[in-house]
Amino acid sequence: MIRINENYTKLKASYLFADIARRVGAYVAAHPERPVIRLGIGDVTEPLPPACVEAMQAATAEMARRETFRGYGPEQGYPFLREAVAEHDYAARGCRIEPDEIFISDGAKCDCGNIQEIFATDIRLAIPDPVYPVYIDTNVMAGRTGPERDGRYEGVAYLESTPANGYVPEVPSAPADLVYLCFPNNPTGAGATRARLAAWVEYARRNRAVLLFDSAYEAYIRDPEIPHSIYEIEGARDVAIEFRSFSKTAGFTGTRCAYAVVPKTLVAWDRAGEAHPLHALWNRRHTTKFNGVAYPIQRAAAAVFTPAGRQQTRALTDFYLGTARLIREAMAGLGLQCVGGENAPYIWVNAGRDSWEFFDLLLNRAQVVVTPGAGFGRCGEGHVRISAFNSRENVAAALDRIAAAIA
Ligand SMILES: Cc1ncc(COP(=O)(O)O)c(C=O)c1O
Repeated sequence: MIRINENYTKLKASYLFADIARRVGAYVAAHPERPVIRLGIGDVTEPLPPACVEAMQAATAEMARRETFRGYGPEQGYPFLREAVAEHDYAARGCRIEPDEIFISDGAKCDCGNIQEIFATDIRLAIPDPVYPVYIDTNVMAGRTGPERDGRYEGVAYLESTPANGYVPEVPSAPADLVYLCFPNNPTGAGATRARLAAWVEYARRNRAVLLFDSAYEAYIRDPEIPHSIYEIEGARDVAIEFRSFSKTAGFTGTRCAYAVVPKTLVAWDRAGEAHPLHALWNRRHTTKFNGVAYPIQRAAAAVFTPAGRQQTRALTDFYLGTARLIREAMAGLGLQCVGGENAPYIWVNAGRDSWEFFDLLLNRAQVVVTPGAGFGRCGEGHVRISAFNSRENVAAALDRIAAAIA
C-alpha cells in the first residue's frame, strides 16, 4: 500500500493568499460595480528593463542558429553570469566570493525551500515570526517540526519581530543549528544594521550553526548603514549561505532567475564530528535535481550588470521606493505606526486591531486589498503588509480611499 509523507498533514490547512483570494472573489462577485485595488501580493508590476529584453532577444536569436545554438548548459549557471555576480554583487562591496561559489537557479523560493535537504532532520531550527512562509513550510514537510498549535509548530524556536524590538529579532540566548534570516524583510520591510548582523555571525560561530540569509530585496537598500550582503560581515564566509534573486531587483518574477552563494569555507558536521564542506553537498544536490536556467534568461540577468542595466534597475527600484514613501507618509498621516518602505518595497502597518478585521474593513469600505499580518505568523497579528508594487495612479487612489474609509 502506497503511503503519503504524513508531515504534509501537519501543514496549516489554509494558505494565506488563497484565503485572501476567496474573500476578494466573494466581494467582487457581490459588488461588480466597485473596482478593487490590490496592494496585497508581492509581485512586480513594471516591465523588464530594456537592457534585459535586448540581451534576451539577442540570446534567443543565437538559439535559432545552428552555429550558436546551445543545449544543456552547466547546472550551476554559465560562467559569464557567475563572474558578473561575483564582480558586481560581491567584489564591488569588498566581499570575497568566487564565481564557483555562486549557484544560478530559477528562484530564491526554490533555493530557500531546497537548501534544508542538505541538513540533518534532527537539528534545532530558528525561524523568524512573521516570516516568508517557505522557510517554515519546507521544514515541516521534511519532518523537522512537531504538530502545529495556535499558529506555531512544536520544536521550532521563533525569532520574534515586534514593535518592542523595532521588528528586528534579537539574537536568542538558546543555541540553534540552522537560522533563517531575511533582510530587508518580507513582510515587515525592516532592515538589519551591520551591528545586528555581526551579532548573528558571532552567534553562528559560537554555536557552530549555519545562517541562511535571504536578501531577495537587497536592491531596495538605500541606507548606507545596512549591509547588502551577509558577507560584508567579517567571518560570515564560514557560517552563512546567501540567497539573492533577480525577481524584485529587475522584474524577473515571471522570467525566473536567482542564485545561492555557498562559500567553500563553510562546513557542517556529521554524527561522528567530521566536518563536511556544504559547497560539495549543495553542488551534488543542485546538479542531481536541477538542469540549469535557460540561456536567454541568464543573458538577460547578466545584462542587469551592464551600465545601462544598472541604471535601469536602479530607476525601477527607485520608482517602487517612491511609491512606498507615499504609502508610509499616508499611513503616518492617519496616525498609524509603520516600518519598512525605506529600504524595502513593503510597509508593515500596526493596525492596532485584529489584522483580518482591518483587512475586511479596507476591502469593504475602501475596496483596497492588503495582506493580513496574521497570515505570516503570530507576531503578524495586529498588522497588515502593504506592497508598493502597483502603479502610482492605483496607489494614490487606494490611499485616498483608505483615508476616507478610516477617517
Ligand atoms: C523573502 C523572499 N525570498 C524569496 C522570494 C522568492 O523569490 P523568487 O521569485 O526568486 O523565487 C520572495 C518572493 O516574494 C521573498 O519575498
